[in-house]
Amino acid sequence: MDYQTLMDKAIEASKNAYVPYSHFPVGACILTEDDKIFTGCNFENASFGLTICAERNAVGSAISAGCKKIKAIAVYSPKMNNCYPCGACRQVLHEFKSDNGIDVILKNNDELTIFKIEELLPGGFNL
Ligand code: THU
Repeated sequence: MDYQTLMDKAIEASKNAYVPYSHFPVGACILTEDDKIFTGCNFENASFGLTICAERNAVGSAISAGCKKIKAIAVYSPKMNNCYPCGACRQVLHEFKSDNGIDVILKNNDELTIFKIEELLPGGFNL
């Protein structure tokens, strides 16, 4: 699965976002170690703190399907170039790194930028 395809699926997923409060849709698409893909979008709530980010929604789908090793994730918002994952999502991704880490793929106009999760979250918490 090439990273442009992963990003295309994140773009598609962002169209399902439920964002009546922020009007800020986000889509994410995960590639697991066994080459499965899982998408997610953000969904908000009138009780704002209950909002679920697109990345964590996608991670939940992967875990529910028994896939716990993430190789890559594409994240997209039509409202922002390089829509970086929030701190909470970085920590959640850190938990499910593949042996090769996680490539985080962002889109800046027509260009894809790739970060390793360790770059975005140095010193992620382990128990
Ligand atoms: N959001 C995400 O889905 N992922 C992030 O990493 C950052 C923020 C969502 C949450 C909320 O619905 C909207 O973007 C504005 O914060």
